[in-house]
Amino acid sequence: MLQLNIRTLATAGALVLSVSVFAMGGRPKGDEEGTNSRIAPVAHVELAAPSAGAAAGSRSGEQIYKTICAACHEAGVANAPKLGDKTAWAPRIALGLDGLLKSAIAGKNAMPPKGGSDANDAELARTIVYMANKSGGNLKEPAAK
Ligand code: HEC
Repeated sequence: MLQLNIRTLATAGALVLSVSVFAMGGRPKGDEEGTNSRIAPVAHVELAAPSAGAAAGSRSGEQIYKTICAACHEAGVANAPKLGDKTAWAPRIALGLDGLLKSAIAGKNAMPPKGGSDANDAELARTIVYMANKSGGNLKEPAAK
C-alpha cells in the first residue's frame, strides 16, 4: 500500500515535470532571450503592428476614434484638435486625406505615431475621414481594398 502511494506520487511528479518541460519547449533560452528582453519595447512595436493590424483591420473609423483617438481629441488634450472644432480642423483638412494620413502615421508633436494605436493604414484613413467630417470637412473614404 505504502509502496503504491510512493509510486503514484513518483508518477505524478514525473508527469508534472514532463508537462513543464513540454511547456518550455521551443523557447530559445540564454543570451537570445536576454537580447529579446533588452530590445523588447522596440521589437514589440515592430512585430505587433502588422499582425494586430491584420487581425483587427476591419474596424470602422468611429470605433477606432471612440476607443483610441477620443482620449485626446475629444477634450483637446495637449492641443489636439477637438472633434467638431471646425476652426481647429479647417487648416488641417486643407492638407487633404493624404497629408493627414502621413502625419497621423508618423505622429506629430504631442501625438504619437498612429495616435498610439495598432490601426493599419486603411483603418487610420477611415478614422481621419470620420474625425474630419465631424469637424466641417468633406473628405471621402478611400475605396476598400
Ligand atoms: C496622446 C494624444 C493623442 C491621441 C491618442 C491621438 N492624437 Fe491625433 N493629435 C494629437 C495632437 C496633440 C495633435 C496636434 C498635433 C500638432 O499639430 O501639433 C493631433 C493631431 C492629429 C491630426 C492632424 C494632423 C495634422 O497634420 O495636422 C490627425 C489627422 C490626428 N491627430 C488623428 C488621430 C487619430 C486618427 C488618432 C487615433 C488613431 C489620434 N489622432 C489619436 C494628439 C493625439
